[in-house]
Amino acid sequence: MKSVAFAVGLLAMGGTAFAAPASALDYPTNSTRPGLNSLMKLNDGRYFGTAASAVHFNDSKWLSVLQDSDMFGSMTPENSQKWEATEPERGLFDFAAADLNVQKAQEAGQMVRCHTLIWYNGLPDWITSQTWTNETLIAVMENHIKEVVTHFKGQCYSWDVVNEAVNDDGSYRETIWYNTIGPEYIAMAYNMVAKYDPDAKLYYNDYGIEFINNKTLGAIALVKDLKEKGVKVDGVGIQGHYPVVLAPSYEDQVEVLQRFADLGVEVATTELDVFVEIPEKVEQVAMQTAIYADSVRACVDVPACIGVTVWGFYDPYSWVPGTVPGYGNADLFWANWTAKPAYDAIVNALLPKE
Ligand code: XIL
Repeated sequence: MKSVAFAVGLLAMGGTAFAAPASALDYPTNSTRPGLNSLMKLNDGRYFGTAASAVHFNDSKWLSVLQDSDMFGSMTPENSQKWEATEPERGLFDFAAADLNVQKAQEAGQMVRCHTLIWYNGLPDWITSQTWTNETLIAVMENHIKEVVTHFKGQCYSWDVVNEAVNDDGSYRETIWYNTIGPEYIAMAYNMVAKYDPDAKLYYNDYGIEFINNKTLGAIALVKDLKEKGVKVDGVGIQGHYPVVLAPSYEDQVEVLQRFADLGVEVATTELDVFVEIPEKVEQVAMQTAIYADSVRACVDVPACIGVTVWGFYDPYSWVPGTVPGYGNADLFWANWTAKPAYDAIVNALLPKE
């Protein structure tokens, strides 16, 4: 109760206790709200970040929110660092969009979570439409990692090195990497990234690992195995794409984040969004509110959890409607730029408790 009263008091003060900069006051419907990153920082220096796609940089309103470092302390390029974007033709590298992503983050003093190198998705046709031998695919992988990681060296806080490598039953996903190279492709990828950028934190990132189930146990075994082999792996990212009817509880998330942390890595929620059925129902918005707050609280309550990244913040630009038919409105701001109740619930979760 105390924290709620404090929150209400703070909101009434226009967030001035946190020295909201002029940019935060520009939001017409959001002028009294403190920025999420400012509040997250009060919790042992954690960050609150977002994914951002370079295709929206011409939207000045959206860009001003994105580049408000009071709101976001970290940025993840949503698509521009994926293989199909960076090496669309074999040996032909294109960093234009990704450079723009990184530049926008740097202008705003935000760190960059670089995303992602080895994934079964987001691959160009030249990789998926031909048959490779173990040797040729390893060479393709090393060349890609060398070029991309070297290009961004010094600019990435972290790299999501391998993304989504585990099946629901805990076995390895049968990707082109696994089928051609074998499970060794995973350790190889981490070793290659460590070679070309020894300073970036190397993450394993996946979805569906937010509560203890076979997939989570598989991911835990994968990271444990890498560690035991002496492979450099520094972090685990729990993506956090949740339909309201199927979200993990606060306790689930604390347990899983801690289980990964026990392996000796840092942890983070890396792609949080919470989708409701469209048309939106009041009850589901209430569920969404609680789920967002629980996720942020879970991170703050696990010492090894260093931050939370939302997968976008503005409903019209969310990936959800295009990917999960019938669902949407997954982000913290509605199309008219009203902050959702989830925003205020996160504020309450982050305010100092005394
Ligand atoms: C998604 C993007 O948001 C979409 O724009 C794109 O069409 C497909 O990829 N897990 C991940 C992210 O690690 O890279 C995905 O991003 C969402 C699921």
